[in-house]
Amino acid sequence: MSSSELISSAIIAQRPIVSPHDFNPIEDSVVHMSRVSLRRGQNLLLDDISWHVQEGERWIVMGPNGAGKSTLINLAAARSHPTTGNVAILGEVLGAVDVFDLRPAIGLSSTLLAEQLPGNETIRDLVVTAAYGVTGRWREEYEPEDLQRADQLLARWGIAGYSDRRFRTLSEGERKRALIARAMMTDPELLILDEPGAGMDLAGRETLVRSLKQLAADTYAPTPILVTHHVEEIPPNFTHAMLLREGRIVSAGPIDTALTEETLSEAFRLPLKVTRNAEGRFTAFART
Ligand SMILES: Nc1ncnc2c1ncn2[C@@H]1O[C@H](COP(=O)(O)OP(=O)(O)O)[C@@H](O)[C@H]1O
Ligand SMILES: [Mg+2]
Repeated sequence: MSSSELISSAIIAQRPIVSPHDFNPIEDSVVHMSRVSLRRGQNLLLDDISWHVQEGERWIVMGPNGAGKSTLINLAAARSHPTTGNVAILGEVLGAVDVFDLRPAIGLSSTLLAEQLPGNETIRDLVVTAAYGVTGRWREEYEPEDLQRADQLLARWGIAGYSDRRFRTLSEGERKRALIARAMMTDPELLILDEPGAGMDLAGRETLVRSLKQLAADTYAPTPILVTHHVEEIPPNFTHAMLLREGRIVSAGPIDTALTEETLSEAFRLPLKVTRNAEGRFTAFART
């Protein structure tokens, strides 16, 4: 399918804009956005976005700097509201639900969130406090199961033994992994990772890709949405992709049709040579 056909299928899926109380999300949808736009002052950050993430899918969101990726996933994380259109997360419509009830079901890791975390907290406290919906040490005693879960998550994300280290003493890569462990603490149904590979060295990136590949293979894992602007960071078993440019969808759908030489070149406004190897890993270079 060409990118123009993908765009037209997205347009067909559009529905009229109704009030949040009258919006019926698609059954079993993890994210359902219908004709969403988001305006900040004079800037149209998102323009007529319709997007549907179903249980069992694993999504990549890609696009150049400033394309609107973080704006889009902040909506999906119930951290903001659209200016027009409707957003339903896990069947709950934004504007018709108390977002504080919804947020524990959504794991989020982003640079913005990291900046809000106290640097002198221990990693164990940072991870375990997510279970209580707070940041920073909250009370002297936690439930033993919560502490055990925090340590298990730190081990799963490759930073076992870091529990007593302070957040600010971690390397960028270790910090990103601690944030993912934190995002997983509430056992969410949706896991949103905004550029988790940013600032990582090669070994850190490859460890992350391997962990995300394992997560994507786990049927009990939350539905992941991974934001990146590097094709090398895409784990091989992610199933779907959306490409954004200037707040608009360039392509969205199954990864093999949504993420091609044509669509990537269009999104990044650069003629690209894109390859995918036998293991399913991507590379992209400018055509010379
Ligand atoms: N609060 C805001 N007011 C005005 N413009 C904003 C605001 N937040 C983000 N933007 C702009 O919206 C665009 C998209 O930002 P963002 O979603 O962070 O992009 P990305 O994550 O793809 O790099 C950028 O041009 C950014 O400068
Ligand atoms: Mg961003």
